[in-house]
Amino acid sequence: MYLSPDEKSFLAGSSGAAVMKAMHILTTLGNIYGAERMIPVNSVQISGVSYANLGEAGLSWLAEMAKGGGRAKVFTTLNPAGMDVENYQALGIPEDFAVNQRRVLDAFRAMDVVTTCSCTPYLFGNLPRFGEHIAWAESSAVCYANSVIGARTNREGGPSALAAALTGLTPAYGYHLEENRSPDLHVQVDTQVSENDDFGALGKVIGDRIQAASIRSVPYITGIKEASLENLKSFCASIATYGGTALFHMPGITPEAGQFTPPAEKLCVTQIDIKKVKASLTNAASEEVDFVSLGCPHLSLREIQRIAQLVEGKQVTKEFWITTSRPVKGMADRMGYTKIIEAAGVKFATDTCCVVAPIEGRFKALATDSAKACYYAQAKNHFKTRLLAFDDVIREAVE
Ligand code: F3S
Repeated sequence: MYLSPDEKSFLAGSSGAAVMKAMHILTTLGNIYGAERMIPVNSVQISGVSYANLGEAGLSWLAEMAKGGGRAKVFTTLNPAGMDVENYQALGIPEDFAVNQRRVLDAFRAMDVVTTCSCTPYLFGNLPRFGEHIAWAESSAVCYANSVIGARTNREGGPSALAAALTGLTPAYGYHLEENRSPDLHVQVDTQVSENDDFGALGKVIGDRIQAASIRSVPYITGIKEASLENLKSFCASIATYGGTALFHMPGITPEAGQFTPPAEKLCVTQIDIKKVKASLTNAASEEVDFVSLGCPHLSLREIQRIAQLVEGKQVTKEFWITTSRPVKGMADRMGYTKIIEAAGVKFATDTCCVVAPIEGRFKALATDSAKACYYAQAKNHFKTRLLAFDDVIREAVE
């Protein structure tokens, strides 16, 4: 691949050991995927932040990059960590895990990476514009950035996202190229979807069919008349989890859809499909639920406001976590929502989520509105699940 004189000098070590390693990662990736050149990026989001996933090997690599002079050249934020940095004791996270998680965050901080840990960075300032090249790693955020915002990103791994942060570069392949952004599958939705759990179920219906066909697809989805930001983040999380989808188009809703006509290959989604998927993600009875969680992906302020409305003056009877970013929690504090929610016994799990926190085996059954959370609760944490509408999840804990 072509490298500019500056890029060649980075690779030769002129800017230190960390940048040299970062350029090595990026050029290796570029050569594998046939990139012709590097392109500058203005925003990075790094995954692989939980110590539970990184372990000592990942942590020592980060420490080595920090020691080698690595500093983020562009605005870079982090995916959720394994714990709420300020409130981990209340969530039952052991002290030895907290010590190691802090070492991870210290290594990122030393590299000028903003240690706000969230999968919805677009809700608090890491918000790319339409057409902008970025390097993001969290699958739900990648799908949201490509599809809903119209930014351009591949799904980076933790190391390649950090490499992009330290160089401000990414290889030009995949979704950075216009020719790879055209839809190749028409999905006609013949039923109404309105709640987060509906959109999550729809993401699984489409994702499962894409996986079954073993194709890397860009769906063009018709039949959706309205979708809120919250619906779309739920949909993105689900279709990315079940289908590996990083980009879709939805006429009237996503910004690039108008450039395309529906592809010939078509699949239809009916109410029966949605019901079947919801049933498949609900293998726990209400009496079995001992853990309730909202915030996969991380909650918006509007969702926290709704929780405050529904729990005000009540008490929850089950362990109930709500997961969000620290800046959104700050707005909830200022608006008085936090006080109402915590008075009801609901716990904020800020900076983290019920998938990356080390809670395997701690609960029997999870109630949530997130199809993605159901997947990981079953596969990773071995919980049973109940997929419910947002308000019904809250009722599950207070009634
Ligand atoms: Fe975000 Fe954790 Fe869900 S990273 S999308 S809340 S699994």
